[in-house]
Amino acid sequence: QQRTPIIAGNWKMNFDHLQAIAFVQKLAWSLKDVRHDYNDVEIAVFPPFTDLRSVQTLISADKLSLSLGAQDVSEFESGAYTGDVSAPMLKKLESAYVIVGHSERRAGYSESSELVGRKAAAAQTVGIVPLICVGETAEDLEEHGASAVPVQQLIKALAQLSADAEFIVAYEPVWAIGSGEPATPEQAENVAKALREVVREQKGDDVANATRILYGGSVTSQNIAGFMKQPNVDGALVGGASLKVDEFSRIAQYK
Ligand code: G3H
Repeated sequence: QQRTPIIAGNWKMNFDHLQAIAFVQKLAWSLKDVRHDYNDVEIAVFPPFTDLRSVQTLISADKLSLSLGAQDVSEFESGAYTGDVSAPMLKKLESAYVIVGHSERRAGYSESSELVGRKAAAAQTVGIVPLICVGETAEDLEEHGASAVPVQQLIKALAQLSADAEFIVAYEPVWAIGSGEPATPEQAENVAKALREVVREQKGDDVANATRILYGGSVTSQNIAGFMKQPNVDGALVGGASLKVDEFSRIAQYK
């Protein structure tokens, strides 16, 4: 099964819309020559909501080979939900992807796996591919090992998806996020493999073989190649290193 690798940059709450434009222009320039050799790698950016319109306009005006995603979405279509943004709104901005269940939202906003699943379902309803994040804390790791918590999170989230539409899974051990201490490629592979089995049990062989599973947590240009060599790791969700044009560009050229 051939799965298109994806290098995704989650900007988190960084860059206003002017900084976003400058960044994407530089990134496109930096990737210009690269793309001829690397057109089998998808590169995606996930800016804050306030930047989406500017980045979308730039991507479409300059025909950049960059995919666009948002960092969160409401489970509801519209209504009295102050501060939230709906999937149809993101679709209008040509958002191909949306992150759901990032550990910063699970921890900071008490998002349950069921809610994460409903958000993923809302995205799929309008044709947006949800990128479902799962991962264990350092305490979980000590108590239950690496895969138990991410597996449970994924089982609960996938139970909310009715359609056979595409989704992506990102394994992000919470202890590895922003810590400078990534998982080893072997650790990432073991959990990615367990997550693929969850997809297989819930959605069948074809979906399991087609679903992209990413690793995230202190990914840099120095360690990306090790992760990408793993048979069950199909890409990376990059935080801090995605805010530096040269570094993100080097990560995208991991081969
Ligand atoms: O979404 C990205 C992850 O939280 C990883 O962040 O690369 O800064 O460790 P990081």
